[in-house]
Amino acid sequence: VWYISANRDQQVFDDPYRFDVGRAPNEHLSFGIGRHYCLGAFLARLEIRVVLQELLERVETIELTGPARRIRSNWANGLKQMPVRVTTR
Ligand code: HEM
Repeated sequence: VWYISANRDQQVFDDPYRFDVGRAPNEHLSFGIGRHYCLGAFLARLEIRVVLQELLERVETIELTGPARRIRSNWANGLKQMPVRVTTR
């Protein structure tokens, strides 16, 4: 699977380049598919949920202050750097 392409498949996702945490249905392949489906997917989802919950409790705003830099990879998509200004509650 070429994850970068699969998760932006216009035949699967409406507006595939939009960051939408509430996307439903969300048939992404970030945790793989089939018999080698990620064994840690439930733990990873839990960890991400806890991080976001704790962040939302403490943070008022998060504002982009410069251009984001992406990682150079033909395997995974991700951010290398994303400067932001955080205002706490
Ligand atoms: C956001 C976090 C994570 C992502 C995006 C991710 C992604 C993936 C992907 C795409 C695969 C499938 C690779 C393939 O098809 O060969 C995979 C497999 C696997 N992942 Fe994760 N993973 C994450 C977190 C974790 C965590 C936290 C653990 C363990 C604590 C874990 C353990 C594994 C294992 C053991 C496999 C191999 C499963 C097998 O081959 O049967 N992963 N992961």
